[in-house]
Amino acid sequence: MNNKALNADRREFLTKGAALAAAAGTLAISATSPAHAAEGIAVAAAATAEAPKAVAGYVKEPKNLKDVLSNARKIMDTCAACDIAGAGRCNGKGPCGESVPGMGGKRQSFVRNIEAFEGMSLNMRTVHNISHPKTEINLLGVKLAMPVLTGITGGLTYNMGAANKLAFDGELMTEEKYARGIIEGAANAGCLGWAADGIGDPLETYKRRMTVVSEFKGRAVAQIKPRTQQEIFERLDIVQQAGAPFFAIDIDSAGRAARALPGKTVEPKDLKKLKEIVNYAKIPFVAKGIMTVDEALMCAEAGCGAIIVSNHGGRVLSSTPASMHVLPAIVKAVRDRGYKMPILVDGGVRDGGDVLKALACGAQAVLVGRPMLRASLGGGVKGVEMLFNRFHTELVSSMVLTGVADVNNVDPAILTQEV
Ligand SMILES: Cc1cc2nc3c(=O)[nH]c(=O)nc-3n(C[C@H](O)[C@H](O)[C@H](O)COP(=O)(O)O)c2cc1C
Repeated sequence: MNNKALNADRREFLTKGAALAAAAGTLAISATSPAHAAEGIAVAAAATAEAPKAVAGYVKEPKNLKDVLSNARKIMDTCAACDIAGAGRCNGKGPCGESVPGMGGKRQSFVRNIEAFEGMSLNMRTVHNISHPKTEINLLGVKLAMPVLTGITGGLTYNMGAANKLAFDGELMTEEKYARGIIEGAANAGCLGWAADGIGDPLETYKRRMTVVSEFKGRAVAQIKPRTQQEIFERLDIVQQAGAPFFAIDIDSAGRAARALPGKTVEPKDLKKLKEIVNYAKIPFVAKGIMTVDEALMCAEAGCGAIIVSNHGGRVLSSTPASMHVLPAIVKAVRDRGYKMPILVDGGVRDGGDVLKALACGAQAVLVGRPMLRASLGGGVKGVEMLFNRFHTELVSSMVLTGVADVNNVDPAILTQEV
């Protein structure tokens, strides 16, 4: 399977995997490799009984984020893991080519996210007495060491091109191993990591990810695709049983509605359906992929626990605005109407200074997608923890240098320029 195929539409990719396996007469799921068999490409790989691929040149015990990134670069087929300015940054203009800036993005929307942060400046203020600013927040009843969560990212095989490969520690890279890096790394840093749901993921695959979530009761959260209501409820039961304190649905994955297949149907959710989900759930429902004022208000009206202002990291629609560009108007409208619902944002957050910029625009917390993903692939639990620690150090430093005492109260005036 070459890079081009890996980057192709996911459904097509899964179909190809299944077709390959069928051609080999071995479509039956391999009992010896259930983790793989549940993923499209892996069915094909299992069919040909390919041995896991060793990868040359790993740093076996990554000591810093440079080592982590170097490892990630080696295991991924889909992302060049560019290290612009030594900060693990991808600006969407690297060697991966037009279709995949920063791993599967629609070029303009992804680049806009990055440029939105780059275009904002912080007013430097150092005549004050703030040397130990407060970074802790309480998000929907969970205490976090800082307002940073991992992004919601899954699909090791079809998204990251890390199928059937050995990781830096010599073990086979699997969805569970990847999820563990994200979730345990975040928990170790006092923050929260998300377990994802892929459109084509069978319930069994999802359940295996939820076993990782259940190990970190209360300190790991989960996402569900905007499936049919009944399928959402079925997965939500599992999420709740796993002890997740809240869950998200990325409604913006509804773009594949027209190509839905039985068991893989995703759909937009109107106000009535949002309310049904809120009513069914015993834990707060976080609506992800909100980019307009009216839809943010509908989520508030439906009783959502929070929203994530997000263009899905530029992966679902080209020519959207940057999420940071729509955030201030959404915050204003929601607060003007008296709703207290937390507003999170993601897309292009790359360092602690970016976190502070998002807070200054009214967000309560941010999600960090691709950098966390690379950290899990290249350094596992430790890699993700290292990245969270780097964010914390940068956030504290940015707060001291702008005179911000508390992440819960960030004055928009620290920004020199409106977004
Ligand atoms: C490889 C990959 C897989 C993703 N899978 C999901 C997903 O399953 N569900 C979801 O809500 N968002 C998904 N996203 C979007 C992220 O949650 C997030 O919105 C985005 O990555 C944030 O932008 P950033 O990567 O620039 O930080 C995915 C992103 C990437 C890069």
